[in-house]
Amino acid sequence: MGYELDNLILDCRRSFRKEKALAARERMRRYCIRACIDGDFVARWFGPGPENDSPRRLIYEDPDFGFCIVSHCRKDPGRSPPHDHGSSWAIYAQVEGHTDMTHWRVVESAKNDEPSGARKKVEVASQSRLQPGDAFLYNEGDIHSPSFDGPSKFLRIEGRNLFGRPRNEFEAVDPEDQES
Ligand SMILES: [Fe+2]
Repeated sequence: MGYELDNLILDCRRSFRKEKALAARERMRRYCIRACIDGDFVARWFGPGPENDSPRRLIYEDPDFGFCIVSHCRKDPGRSPPHDHGSSWAIYAQVEGHTDMTHWRVVESAKNDEPSGARKKVEVASQSRLQPGDAFLYNEGDIHSPSFDGPSKFLRIEGRNLFGRPRNEFEAVDPEDQES
């Protein structure tokens, strides 16, 4: 029997009930992997057809815990600026294609002299490619930026529905440009 959306939802809800937040998210990350490599799940939510054609499609929002399951079917290359999701968290789980993810850290030397309201400066901490069956968890404040060099399909779980919510964006700097 395949791993269906209902299975993913029930497993996530059980994690929320039984475990502390960070442990629940890590377990949900593993459930996302299970979904992403399940042929039936992928065919239903990421297969060919106009219903699976959206760069963002909310497929479930939990009425009790608030988490959301979202499918993303991107056709075109593109990249996001460095960002976090404010007081929320998110899991990115790759289904088809790949997503190049950059992880960033705040440049400490730039913190003190920046005017209020200025975007914080960040530098690259690491880079990883999400391949089908990979899933990354970003907790509150984890700064990241996905980029796509072609079509990419991925599943996300958001701590709460992030559609239309402002996110924190950051200014990328080259570490060699920073004064020592
Ligand atoms: Fe993000």
